[in-house]
Amino acid sequence: MKHSDINTWREKVVPHQPPWPCADQLEAATQELAAFPPLVTSWEVELLKTQLAQAAQGDRFLLQGGDCAETFDGCTPDRITNKLKILLQMSLILVHGTRRPVVRVGRFAGQYAKPRSSNEETRDGTTLPSFFGDNVNRPAFEEQSRRPDPWRLLRGYERSALTLNFIRGLVGGGFADLHHPEYWDLDFVSHAELGDDYARLINEIANGLSFMETLSGASAADLSRVDFFTSHEGLLLNYESAITRHVPRRDGWWLLSTHFPWIGMRTACPDGAHVAFFERIRNPIAVKVGPSMSIADMQKRVSRLIDVLHPDDEPGRLTLVHRFGADATEDYLPALVDCVRKTGRTVLFVCDPMHGNTRTTEDGLKTRSFEDILREIELSIDLHQQVGSVFGGVHFELTGENVTECTGGARGLRDQDLHAGYESMVDPRLNAEQSLEMAMLISRRLGGV
Ligand code: PEP
Ligand code: CO
Repeated sequence: MKHSDINTWREKVVPHQPPWPCADQLEAATQELAAFPPLVTSWEVELLKTQLAQAAQGDRFLLQGGDCAETFDGCTPDRITNKLKILLQMSLILVHGTRRPVVRVGRFAGQYAKPRSSNEETRDGTTLPSFFGDNVNRPAFEEQSRRPDPWRLLRGYERSALTLNFIRGLVGGGFADLHHPEYWDLDFVSHAELGDDYARLINEIANGLSFMETLSGASAADLSRVDFFTSHEGLLLNYESAITRHVPRRDGWWLLSTHFPWIGMRTACPDGAHVAFFERIRNPIAVKVGPSMSIADMQKRVSRLIDVLHPDDEPGRLTLVHRFGADATEDYLPALVDCVRKTGRTVLFVCDPMHGNTRTTEDGLKTRSFEDILREIELSIDLHQQVGSVFGGVHFELTGENVTECTGGARGLRDQDLHAGYESMVDPRLNAEQSLEMAMLISRRLGGV
């Protein structure tokens, strides 16, 4: 079968789609999208697949991170630069800790759609469609803003292209002057119990960079010629399928809206429309696995997902992102590894320590604590080691900005501090300092500090 039928998902009920008011407009918008150039290329996608295959063998480490939901307003040079900077810094710290090259994947250039628990939201007796992400509607609680508008999909495609264009320019031009300590914004280190360790780590990294530069005569920016890959949740199938193409001299279908799409926990039903679509694309793909069902049911689901999505055991094809929460990890994670083993196939295991650790403060803000996030990662590292599987990477919701959305970290943010800089419309993110500190603690745990 050279090109399988990519449209079988259309015969199924597609869960978690917005209530688009007009099917004709949706069709017209996606037809325009279908005529546009792709955002990424199949050779970039293949390169990433190769690197993910190496991560699954323990020869690389995946760092994936970015906003829960990008916003159209957030498509600014400063914010994009800050996101790259924090991911790059974290990756250098993780290289140090893991002694492995790090694959950097942003939750960016297309993370504009969210699954919601309910299609509607009611406030003071008024019911409106939920906010589904900037690709669909706007967050303000008023009728006009909340009306799903399929033409926003084009705005999302354009924002993704603008973001990617800027990223490619920055990366090509060598944006990061890594060996200057002032580049690192390390004020928080003086508040951290492990401040001295952190300072030493950064020094070591800076010295390592100068050493490499001296050795090679190239600047750090050239040395790393850092690649960034893109990822987002493949949720809105009308959008994704409009940017799914054949390419010359390769078989099959390529989803070219992003390098590395993932299936969210809520849409990962083995018989569902999302799985039917992902089954037929050639990209490396990820699936979120959570504790929303019993351990036995989770194992059955994962075995079936592997049969459908990963029948040929193609290296790098399938990543399982476990997000059990700190409290459930000890029960679920060994069971997950066990059922994967029984399939005889290789997957990349990655820990998302964010989505299983969400709680609501007394003031009604969604938050996560730095300590719970770290605990889930540390438990995952230990458990993978105990059962002999590879802890292959981490998946964070984070931002390069100085927000106050998660509690804890060196500055000890408390629930009552969160109002000061809470921006997220959806899930709470680690801020830049918390992200750096998290990378340092993971690095330390993995033996690098
Ligand atoms: C997300 O990654 O933003 C998300 C919704 O995750 P999950 O599907 O794991 O709940
Ligand atoms: Co989220």
